[in-house]
Amino acid sequence: KGHRSIPCSLFAQERHYAQPASQDKLIIFDTTLRDGEQSPGVNFISDEKLEIARHLSNLGVDVIEAGFPIASQGDFDAVARIAKEIGPLMHGREKIGKPMIIAGLARATEKDIKRCYDAVSLAPLHRIHTFLATSDIHLKYKLKIDRNECIKRAASAVAYAKSLCDDVEFSSEDSGRTDKDFLCQLLGKVIEAGATTLNIPDTVGYTSPKDYGALIKYLIENTPGGHKVVWSTHCHNDLGLATANTLSGITNGARQVEMTINGIGERAGNTSLEEVVMNIHTHPSSYPVYHTINTELIYRTSTLVSSLSGMVIQPNKAIVGANAFLHESGIHQDGVLKNKQTYEIIRPEDVGIFSTNLVLGKLSGRNAFRSRLEQLGYSNMNEDDFNKAFDRFKNLADAKKNVTDHDLLALIFDQVTTG
Ligand code: KIV
Ligand code: ZN
Repeated sequence: KGHRSIPCSLFAQERHYAQPASQDKLIIFDTTLRDGEQSPGVNFISDEKLEIARHLSNLGVDVIEAGFPIASQGDFDAVARIAKEIGPLMHGREKIGKPMIIAGLARATEKDIKRCYDAVSLAPLHRIHTFLATSDIHLKYKLKIDRNECIKRAASAVAYAKSLCDDVEFSSEDSGRTDKDFLCQLLGKVIEAGATTLNIPDTVGYTSPKDYGALIKYLIENTPGGHKVVWSTHCHNDLGLATANTLSGITNGARQVEMTINGIGERAGNTSLEEVVMNIHTHPSSYPVYHTINTELIYRTSTLVSSLSGMVIQPNKAIVGANAFLHESGIHQDGVLKNKQTYEIIRPEDVGIFSTNLVLGKLSGRNAFRSRLEQLGYSNMNEDDFNKAFDRFKNLADAKKNVTDHDLLALIFDQVTTG
């Protein structure tokens, strides 16, 4: 199959990490800091973006979309800072063997694209991600252009991006409601203009797993030059199907998946990174891909994003919800006490949830505090910073009976950024 041997640079570099020869490396593209930030009420400040980017780098994501540089001076600065400070980092990336690609979003105009390039190009590996809506409903009412003009604009935006940068991604916004033969025609021109990744957004979460998978397969097979590029999924969760649609996209040939931590994003959100990764992890032979995510860092990354975004995770959320590994009924408790596998399909420690009987409060000591900080990703604090953090924790514990992971992260984050 064409999509099994895509001669894209990212695949080529990573071939030697492939475990079974029959499986491709899945490119994990995280857009928590761009599409995730589009959640109502969420606005990360630069320090917060940087800290999340650092966690995403350790987690092992392959590409991070750090923002939308034309949107504001603040977003431009945050993307540029991530490109400069996090872009070169290798810490925690042994499995991947290279730093993250830093991407930024740009509409299909030269001004947007140049602004994006100026921010992301400070990273050793960088990508311009440009997009244009393609569905008739968007062309008629939003852009007020016809299909020919749409093709012209998309191809010239990609050609301009390519004149600045080798790594160019194009997204056909609202692909889920776009005529598929028109999409093949447009995407063929975009490939000709130099795009290396084609992203197929189901912008309004309209499709079903069967239809989204069929769309990916059809595009790969019918787009001129389609075998030369990486195909990517980008699903929204309006019908609660973002994870299922993304997995169906993979089964049908997509080799990049765009997702956010905790599934945050516009309206009902984006695909949850932790759900897709743990599906592949749990069923390694059911998918034609493998991942290189450090799954044991999922919980701490999820907790950080929840703390800094202010978006509470529903308790019954798969993988990272507070109840995801709790057992209430007597029958279940009895089973788990006899053998955990009776009611647990994932070991909590595989996603970084360590069962602990230690509740942190005002009577807790330095060792319990240190061990919890280590589990949350803050293991190499110098003694001075540790002592300051411990004093802050004691003050907080005087005012609050139980100090949660969210409290600790807020406290440490405040200390890291304000000194
Ligand atoms: O959902 C969407 O269409 C997007 C694109 C801009 C990639 O977020
Ligand atoms: Zn989106």
